Amino acid sequence: MAEPHSIRVLDDTRNAWWNDDFLALVAARTGLDQCSYVLDVGCGHGHFGRRIAPLLKTPFEIMGVDREPQWIDVAARRARAFLSQSKLDGSLTYQSGIAEALPFGDHTFDAVVCQTVLMHLRDPAAALREFARVVKPGGLVLAAEPNNFGALQRLANDLDAPGASVEAHLLLVEAHARIIAGKRALGEGDNALGARLPALFRPFESTQFFTTDRPYVLAPPYESDAEQLVIERLRERCERDEAGWSRGDARRYWLAGGGALERFESVYASMVEHEKRELAAIDAGTHAELSAIVHFVAAGRTKR
Ligand SMILES: C[S@@+](CC[C@H](N)C(=O)[O-])C[C@H]1O[C@@H](n2cnc3c(N)ncnc32)[C@H](O)[C@@H]1O
Repeated sequence: MAEPHSIRVLDDTRNAWWNDDFLALVAARTGLDQCSYVLDVGCGHGHFGRRIAPLLKTPFEIMGVDREPQWIDVAARRARAFLSQSKLDGSLTYQSGIAEALPFGDHTFDAVVCQTVLMHLRDPAAALREFARVVKPGGLVLAAEPNNFGALQRLANDLDAPGASVEAHLLLVEAHARIIAGKRALGEGDNALGARLPALFRPFESTQFFTTDRPYVLAPPYESDAEQLVIERLRERCERDEAGWSRGDARRYWLAGGGALERFESVYASMVEHEKRELAAIDAGTHAELSAIVHFVAAGRTKR
């Protein structure tokens, strides 16, 4: 069986996307802090559920669903460790289910949340209709989704690096644009979905939008857990001669995004070279950067 895409992205680098006091602000502004029965759709290993658990009205009950049964076991195991350590008054339970046909009755939950899930769906609007069906009338729907086009700002970091050039940067911009467009054209999701959140949330009332206040920092001596994890992942990719996307996925998306087959290998090599330049600068202790993580929260309520 092919391994799920999420195996590449479900790690603890997710913990570095938020500051807890910022999430508490979002919970207070959206009323998530008044919710106790919450559905976490596409829960993966349960990172987002555990992150919002301390913000909910107690005793809380978080139900996580994911289409990958193997993640259900991981999430349940991590929830047990989390609850015994945190001593929070609540429960986290997990079961298989798909976002577009949730295995719950109408008007069940106080809130339905998801993080980096709509971006992976062929039809995110259909999933949001399901979220609206299973939430109570007037209930909260909250989605945290990125716009990964934002990562292009990071190109500015190596403008002066040996081997870098405006031409090489333009190639990386083209690769990024074609890959994101191609993935979307194939119906495999939208890495820039964050930008579409206002359109997707039009059916909801009292909509609010936020972006994380947590920046992406890499600065010598790269001591924080977040920096160490980012560097570990970068090193693994460089050792596999891969950039952000696997070579196979990148090729499919590049072609679907209108890229010419004969250019693919050199474009992908530029992407890998870019990552290797960054790793070399980190290993030399010369790489320092501050960039925005373009990760949005959209929240809205169904009609009462
Ligand atoms: C990038 S992970 C995010 C996991 C989790 N929300 C988090 O933030 O850590 C996306 C998750 O959505 C799940 N997923 C993708 N499509 C789904 C669908 N149609 N229904 C339910 N889960 C889905 C994947 O299996 C994966 O666990």
